[in-house]
Amino acid sequence: MKIEKFTIEYYEEIVTLWRKAGINVGSSDTLEEIDKILRRNPGLFLIGKIDNKVISVVIGGFDGRRGYVHHLAVDPDYQKKGYGRKIMDELIEKFRKIGVHKIHLFIEKYNKEVVDFYKNLGWEIRDDLIMMSYIPDKNLYKIRI
Ligand SMILES: CC(C)(COP(=O)(O)OP(=O)(O)OC[C@H]1O[C@@H](n2cnc3c(N)ncnc32)[C@H](O)[C@@H]1OP(=O)(O)O)[C@@H](O)C(=O)NCCC(=O)NCCS
Repeated sequence: MKIEKFTIEYYEEIVTLWRKAGINVGSSDTLEEIDKILRRNPGLFLIGKIDNKVISVVIGGFDGRRGYVHHLAVDPDYQKKGYGRKIMDELIEKFRKIGVHKIHLFIEKYNKEVVDFYKNLGWEIRDDLIMMSYIPDKNLYKIRI
């Protein structure tokens, strides 16, 4: 698998891949929003290709203090072959190079089996935190793609 920086021409391919892998595609995944996070984090949004087909994707983000990982997915036809680990290793290396101290990610509770995948990669569960969210504009959040 060859890892490259994501470019917007692959937008349709990654949305298809996310859906195939069971990722909830929402209001933050429209073409405009994906373009926005790409521009804010050039170099942290990665795809993995085999024979020119995109088989993995991960969005890395850095807000100036913490790193974040969003929407990691490997095409189900290619899972359990080490590609998830490979693209995550590459992303972690990129975070390390820009001096990020700590990286967070969120796992939806219906998707608990993925916890062991991340544990395998050295991630730790935080049971000292409560995650809270606020939606500043409910109309924006309602957008479906
Ligand atoms: C999670 C996901 C990216 C893993 O990708 P993958 O390519 O299958 O994972 P890898 O083959 O690189 O696995 C790396 C290691 O984790 C282990 N692993 C993978 N999936 C696992 C699971 N569900 N439970 C336990 N261990 C798992 C592998 O056995 C492997 O261990 P090893 O290196 O000791 O052999 C993939 O299953 C996926 O796309 N899932 C659906 C989308 C999703 O849930 N994304 C995460 C959102 S938070």
